[in-house]
Formats: sequence, C-alpha cells, structure tokens
Amino acid sequence: MTGIYLDHNASTPMAPEVLEAMLPYLSDRWGNASSIHAWGRALKKAVEDAREAVACLIGGRPRGLVFTSGGTEANNLAILGAARAHRGERRKIVTTSLEHASVAAPCKALAKAGFEVVFVPPGADGCVAAEAIEAVLDERTLLVSVMLANNETGAVQPVARIARAARERGALVHTDAVQCPGKMAIEVDELGVDFLGIGGHKFNGPHGVGALWMREGTTVEKLLHGADHERGLRPGTANAPGIVGLGAAARLVTARGDGPTRRLAALTERLERQALRSIPDSFASSPPFERRLPNTSNLGFRGVEGESLLLALDMEGIAISTGSACHSGGVDPSPVLLAMGLTRPDALSSIRVSLGHSTTDDEVDRFLETLARVVAGQRAGGAAGD
Ligand SMILES: Cc1ncc(COP(=O)(O)O)c(C=O)c1O
Repeated sequence: MTGIYLDHNASTPMAPEVLEAMLPYLSDRWGNASSIHAWGRALKKAVEDAREAVACLIGGRPRGLVFTSGGTEANNLAILGAARAHRGERRKIVTTSLEHASVAAPCKALAKAGFEVVFVPPGADGCVAAEAIEAVLDERTLLVSVMLANNETGAVQPVARIARAARERGALVHTDAVQCPGKMAIEVDELGVDFLGIGGHKFNGPHGVGALWMREGTTVEKLLHGADHERGLRPGTANAPGIVGLGAAARLVTARGDGPTRRLAALTERLERQALRSIPDSFASSPPFERRLPNTSNLGFRGVEGESLLLALDMEGIAISTGSACHSGGVDPSPVLLAMGLTRPDALSSIRVSLGHSTTDDEVDRFLETLARVVAGQRAGGAAGD
C-alpha cells in the first residue's frame, strides 16, 4: 500500500526483523511445541525464548505470561477469569468509561451475571482521576480495570496510583496496555498491577497473538477448555510462528530504547500545533503532551463531520480514524469523547491521527496541507457537525 498511513493505533506494519524471525516457523521449523521429540523441543525452545523477550519488555517474570490470540483475549481472560476464580464475597468491579470494548464488554457481561460494575468517567482531559476511582473502592471490590493509555486520545492513566489504592483494599488490578509497547515504558512492578494485557499487531508484530501477564500467586479460571497448554490457562496448540513474531517485536522495542519515541513525540506535537494554528475553529481533545502517548492526536474541526473527513482523506490516500460508530441509522459519536464532556457535534467532528515510527516529516507536511484543504472544502460545501 502507498499513501500516508496515520492510523497506527488501529494497527502497525510488521517490522522486517519480525517477519524474518517468523519465516522459518512458517516453513521448515514446523511441529507442535508440546511434542517431546526433537521437532517439538525446537519449537518449545523458540516459544520460551519469546516468553523471555516479552517478559523483559514489561519487566515481569516469563512464568507470568500466558500467550493468547491478542489483546482482546488477554483482557477477557483477566476480567472474566478473575471473576470466575474468585467467587466469594467480592462482587464489585470498578472500571472507567474510557475502556476499549475488550474490557467494557466483559465488564458488562459480568454486570448481567450479577456483579456490581462501576464505570468511572474521565475528566475533560481524558484522564481518570485516581481520587474518583478511590472514592468507589470498598471491601467488596474484586477487580479494578483501568487502561494504561487510551486508544482514541492517547491519555495515559494514573494506573500506579490507582493500583496502590486498590491493593490496599484487597482488590486485584488489571490494566489494558495494548496501546503502550513501543510508545512508553512498561514496568509491571512500578505499575503495581496483577494483570496486564498486550497484543502483537500494535507494536510492529504479527496479528492474532498477544499475551496476558499475571503476577505470581494470582489465579484466573480459564475461559477455553481443552488440553493443558500455557500452565492450563489457555488450551490450544501454541501459535509458534505468531509467538516467535511477538518475541521479535518485543526485542525490537527493548533494543530501540526511547530515542525513536522522542522523535515520534516531536512529530506529533508539530502536527497538532500546526493543524490547530492553520485551521480555524479547530480543537484538540487529547491531554497535554506530557500525559499522553507520543503518537496520538485527537483533533476536531467544527462544522465538519469526522466521518466525511475520514472518507475525503481516504480518497487522497491518507488513513486516519474516528471513534464514531457507523450504522444504518447514522453515526454515533465516540463514547470516550462524550464521557469527557464533549458536545455531540464536537465529538462527531473529531478525528484521531496516530503516527508510527516509520512516519516521516514529509508525510506530516503533506497530511497538514491536505487536511487544511479538505476541511475548508467541506465547510464551503456546507457539511454539518450534527
Ligand atoms: C486499548 C485497546 N485494547 C485492546 C485492543 C484489542 O487488541 P487486539 O486487536 O489485539 O485484540 C485494542 C485494539 O484496538 C485497543 O486499542
């Protein structure tokens, strides 16, 4: 694909090093990692090497990692698995109105099953206040689930503080860190969480693979039933090529250090400032740069629909996204932006721009030129915000 891809929070290109690491496992190094013969042992070694690389990325022990089919399964395993494993007095789940569907949906399923689920709203900056979470914690709270960084605004949440308060009350803590590898440092001990989920395709790894990290001594009930893979927590023959790719992507992030992240932050900041300066009646919904992912900017243009903007930019070969949901009856604005207090028309006029490590200065310039032209054209054409 050619063009300008500014939708890296949706998915990222697989790094050449990742593909290279995977290729042998898609051709001559085949077998079943659970077999005890030489073929199986070779695969098992590759899977365990990947486990070490992923553990190193998040500062955890390899033994705490369970490989899954992606971030969605990792989050479901933590939330539903913890709820099913701890069937005692604690029947309350505390989460936020910012969460991705892979957290919000299992929480809603638990509400239907009789759990009390509290969705704490964020402030206007897209960050949930630790005090707002603390205010609803009590001795009935089984689990607190707060994402490490939001996919739509990039807002980094105060997970370490929330985790401290939650653990003081005896609650377990889960964080959805799917958006974070390659964009910010992740240290499970500094965060103080019990569960952390990631997915490969968000950091230049393969699709269809992810991992749930669990603190030692924490238990979940498995969601799938079958053979005894992954310490009995996730049955199914190991996706060895995918896991090897996840390990290679983790190694790349660890080796890269934070230099490229600083470049990304500077590029995003320039994009946002220039867009706001050059386009009248525009606004940013992401929090200040020091409290957000280095690659994400959520921008709104009054009098223009984000969805129309997305389509017009697509015609120009530029990929961005919106948090809106299209259906036959129209477009629903992003629940995240609404929860932050944006009006419906402002939420509908918003787009998410998410850069990647391969994004160049020239691409940002061309995007800015096209964006200004397309917004002006749509305003002149009378596109309405709602
Ligand atoms: C914050 C967040 N959590 C979870 C997911 C789901 O991850 P996966 O695509 O690996 O299932 C996504 C993907 O968009 C995400 O942005």
